[in-house]
Amino acid sequence: MKNIAILCSGGDVSGMNPALKHFVEYSIEKELTPHFIYDGYEGLIDNHIKKVDYSNVSGIITRGGTKIGSSRSKRFMQEKYRTIAKHNLDALEIDMLIVLGGDGSFRGLDVFYKEHGIKFCGVPSTIDNDIHGTDYCLGVDTALNVIKTSIDAIRDTASSFKRAFVIETMGRDCGYLALVSHLTSGSELCLIPEKKYNLDSFEKDFKQQIKNGRRYFIAIVSEGIKEESQDIAEWFEKKIGIEARVCVLGHVQRGGNPSIYDRLMAYKFITHAINALLSNRNESIVCYTKQGFVLKNIDEVVNTSYTLDPSLLEFLE
Ligand code: F6P
Repeated sequence: MKNIAILCSGGDVSGMNPALKHFVEYSIEKELTPHFIYDGYEGLIDNHIKKVDYSNVSGIITRGGTKIGSSRSKRFMQEKYRTIAKHNLDALEIDMLIVLGGDGSFRGLDVFYKEHGIKFCGVPSTIDNDIHGTDYCLGVDTALNVIKTSIDAIRDTASSFKRAFVIETMGRDCGYLALVSHLTSGSELCLIPEKKYNLDSFEKDFKQQIKNGRRYFIAIVSEGIKEESQDIAEWFEKKIGIEARVCVLGHVQRGGNPSIYDRLMAYKFITHAINALLSNRNESIVCYTKQGFVLKNIDEVVNTSYTLDPSLLEFLE
């Protein structure tokens, strides 16, 4: 029996637990012995690795976060710790590794592979949806649904009080979550890092809308824009003349019951990852594209910067 291991690295996403469940089940089906590495690369360095079976994943499909923990490991950036990590894998005769993570985690993996030749497959997992080469990263759908529920709720109070609400989404330097939420919630304003804006260019129109009977505004702003959300709220009060509040959605966007789409994508990503490793593909990232699932070299994925889908950006015009 060959040994295979999985770890989660970077920000957790809803979809990691369904992925872990399918990892165990599909590994066993393929006559591999599955192992969990706890707390990301930190656990790999500290030898926190355990052989697992069905009993370790029962009941986790409905849970957000990750049962095996995650981390943003600073130590893994140092060569001496990566050497310890390789030693730990060798000691357990693990020669296949699956990493669920974002671009930072894949950059670490790329270096690890180049130094030690570990056979791996990466599964893009970040609510930011900012990994080059894949149209979809695990967790994005659940995060968008959490945002949708929050905006719908805020709309109720905004309309009751004649208020403007500035709702800040996560996404780091990527405006994907904010833009898709804007397009699907009918908000009045969307500000993202990928699109230059001048707030004052909206003044005349917004004032006219109030004269025409508009009671409230919803503005969705991405955390990556240069301005603070509070400054945008103040702009609404001073320039538009409407009371304003800020709501930073924060980490609620990362958690919660995984959506059906994320459960299904977790299943498919893991199936492709294990199949890739079994077909002797030594280093790859499973990407979801318009052509379906494809394997891409990690070099291409981590060394090309992500750009927001221009066909989505167009809708902001
Ligand atoms: O990368 C996922 C993400 O949630 C970003 O959207 C956000 O900027 C960051 O992680 C927050 O990181 P932390 O959980 O370490 O505060």
